[in-house]
Amino acid sequence: MPQAEPERDGPEAAGVPAGAQKEGKGLLDGSIHSFVLRSGRLTEAQRRAIGRFGAKYIFPFTEAHLDLDSLFPEKKPLVLEIGFGMGQATWQIAQERAQFNYLGIEVHTPGVGRLIIDLERHGLGNVRIIQHDAIEVLKTMVPPESLAGIHVFYPDPWPKKRHHKRRLMQDTVVALMAEKLAAGGYLYFVTDIEEYASHARAALDSCAALRNQFEGYAPHQAWRPETKFEHFAKDSGRGTFELLYIKR
Ligand SMILES: C[S@@+](CC[C@H](N)C(=O)[O-])C[C@H]1O[C@@H](n2cnc3c(N)ncnc32)[C@H](O)[C@@H]1O
Repeated sequence: MPQAEPERDGPEAAGVPAGAQKEGKGLLDGSIHSFVLRSGRLTEAQRRAIGRFGAKYIFPFTEAHLDLDSLFPEKKPLVLEIGFGMGQATWQIAQERAQFNYLGIEVHTPGVGRLIIDLERHGLGNVRIIQHDAIEVLKTMVPPESLAGIHVFYPDPWPKKRHHKRRLMQDTVVALMAEKLAAGGYLYFVTDIEEYASHARAALDSCAALRNQFEGYAPHQAWRPETKFEHFAKDSGRGTFELLYIKR
């Protein structure tokens, strides 16, 4: 039976306060968000996983810089993922590229529960989770020049023009990401929406601290698994647009 395309925040959400219009300003000061909080849909297994193992994986949002190494059993370069969804790519990359630690940020509880199930199932110790707005986490908890990488895979595209201000990839947010990357660190962005890809590319190109590793779009990185968004995009005849930038 054909499945429905997975839900993505975007066209139907409303309530953006007036005055939060400047490129990314509203996202940075918290007056608008790049996500819409949905309720419900937590399965019994997800609830159990959070109850039994949450304390091992989930760290609370705090108003101070984190000692990032202290979150993990082993000290390794740290990659932060913004909006891991159900964590499908997160655990697979953590398994495939075990030379890194991973800090996954997601606001939705079902995704947090699902990722914990997979981390337990595969015995992965190099992933930790913060359930909070990733922009606030970056701003408040992540010290400057502390990240080896940032993953932004299939962020909500916010296709309507009046919602573009909710998009993650905007000048101010890209500058914040760049500030948190260590020299040589990478920012890896993937979307199936060409118009968003070119918007993201303009924001990345305008950040002097970052350099495109390729001429234009990047080739698919073999270690990044396909998530359901990619399957649906391909089934719908849409392409994949990848951008890989390095901190100078
Ligand atoms: C379209 S889904 C993609 C999920 C996943 N990256 C994938 O490829 O399957 C985007 C996810 O980003 C999350 N998200 C959006 N903005 C966020 C933010 N500021 N902080 C944390 N999570 C965010 C949403 O909750 C949603 O789960």
